[in-house]
Amino acid sequence: MNYNGLLIHNNKDQDGLDKVTLDNSELKLIASGDGVEVMIQAINANITFDIYPPEDNAPIMEFFYVIEGQVEYLSTEESVLINPHEYFYTKNLTKPCVFKALTKVKLLYVSSQPVFHFIGESLTELHNINKEIDLKDKYTRGHSERVQNLTIKIALQMQLNRDKIASLALAALFHDLGKIFIDDKILRKPGKLTFDEYESVKLHPENSANYVKKIKYIDVSDIVLQHHERIDGSGYPLGLKDDKICIEAKIIAVADTFDAMTTDRPYRSAVTPKEAIDEIKRLSGIWYDPSVVEAFILTLQKDGII
Ligand SMILES: [Fe+2]
Ligand SMILES: [Fe+2]
Repeated sequence: MNYNGLLIHNNKDQDGLDKVTLDNSELKLIASGDGVEVMIQAINANITFDIYPPEDNAPIMEFFYVIEGQVEYLSTEESVLINPHEYFYTKNLTKPCVFKALTKVKLLYVSSQPVFHFIGESLTELHNINKEIDLKDKYTRGHSERVQNLTIKIALQMQLNRDKIASLALAALFHDLGKIFIDDKILRKPGKLTFDEYESVKLHPENSANYVKKIKYIDVSDIVLQHHERIDGSGYPLGLKDDKICIEAKIIAVADTFDAMTTDRPYRSAVTPKEAIDEIKRLSGIWYDPSVVEAFILTLQKDGII
């Protein structure tokens, strides 16, 4: 209700001004004026999310109040728990920050500059493509989220810096977007692919890289482009060797392989985590970076998987 410029929003009207719904989160714009935006963000349990420094170092303050649930600030220095009724905010942020929703979380999110449509536009499109790929290929359903989770754990184990972890989180989630262009018949083919079919699969890193260029505030296209490169130069699309492949792509390569091997595929059934690890270990130093393989094994040990 609007009382001469005083706007009262009762519980019965839950819609807000606008809403962006992604797979595991929802962002609702509930008030805006003079550039300031007030939002409610709901995030599912075990989902990581990031706050990025503004483009062009614009002065912006972003404030988050935990209404419900528990959030962990992931950092290589120390991890901090943020509980209901506690808050965090950024002012002149210089590096991206990564957080994890430990439970289902509801946040009050206030930004001193408009961010809602900016976040909405680029990410909604990419999330929708991920959803479409999950529908196209039931074998890889949930693959991107699992790869993202494992990738972040490996990166934390390797003590990668915060900006790298934030880039990785996005790159891992969207590494296979380019699969949207691969013919369904090829994705679901039970047997070996023909030369031409394999050639069309090999185009997906480049197509994924083009998609993520739409994310305006961070460039993760090289990471995405290189996720099928192998350190002996036998990968694709460029056949890059060891030191030409970025560390983030090397981490995704291991997490991606592990997830692919331990889930059923049209051409073979899943192998056990132990078998997958043995295979990855065998190829350590040939396809995979040994330092990544080592961190990967430590991560799985910590998680009690091996
Ligand atoms: Fe891929
Ligand atoms: Fe993948």
